[in-house]
Amino acid sequence: MSVAKKEYKRITTKTLVDMKKKGEKISMLTAYDFTMAKIVDGAGIDVILVGDSASNVMAGHETTLPITLDQMIYHASSVVRGITRSLVVVDIPFGSYQSDPKEALRSAIRIMKESGAHAVKVEGGKEIKESVKRILNAGIPVMGHLGLTPQSIYKFGTYTVRAKEEEEADKLKADAKLLEKVGCFAIVLEKVPAKLAKEVAKSVSIPIIGIGAGNGVDGQVLVTHDMIGMTKEFNPRFLRRYLDLDAEMTGAFRTYSEDVKSGDFPNDKEQY
Ligand code: KIV
Repeated sequence: MSVAKKEYKRITTKTLVDMKKKGEKISMLTAYDFTMAKIVDGAGIDVILVGDSASNVMAGHETTLPITLDQMIYHASSVVRGITRSLVVVDIPFGSYQSDPKEALRSAIRIMKESGAHAVKVEGGKEIKESVKRILNAGIPVMGHLGLTPQSIYKFGTYTVRAKEEEEADKLKADAKLLEKVGCFAIVLEKVPAKLAKEVAKSVSIPIIGIGAGNGVDGQVLVTHDMIGMTKEFNPRFLRRYLDLDAEMTGAFRTYSEDVKSGDFPNDKEQY
């Protein structure tokens, strides 16, 4: 059990801001279903992200764009039923908040009301400022997401490191300040140079949670299926694999198949 798990019975958005103040790092992982959420929550992970990466990981799409609001709500409500301690944050999917602030608020309300989650996450800075403000005004906590924002992949054209050039780095720094000013409780910073991420984390009072953003930020997030080795074809430099579940599961499934075919399974004790 982690120190943080003993200290905090239930993680709230305020807990995360307090953790930053105390210099305690924040752990965050994705989950899209009840069973995984129960394990992640039980392990003492502070924040569970119901990411729109479900579009890739669960549904096999190439990008995060196709997943719908209804599908995100289905995943989120399954996750919420599995947790007792973690803060559950849900991505508002592509196309459900970009067109206007009223639509953004409607989507955020549906997520909160129908799933029981605790906060929403949106990608972007200045461009979505009015939508973020509208959601916050309704009392819904918002997590920002800057740097590589996968919902804009067709604009970037590539998943390579963002904000290496001064102009983009300056915009990112300004966007982080803006999201803090309007009232976001935290920001995910994806795939940017570690030096820049550290500078951003120092410049704001809200937690910066990095993915491929180095160790100078306030917490880390990974896609659970990546870190437990279920997505073996995905191998970015920032990913640390803690398990090789692809190999473990393949071995188990092969052995089961052999046992069925040889008549070894079920044995006398495994029947009624
Ligand atoms: O959708 C997701 O899983 C994310 C993380 C990569 C931060 O946004």
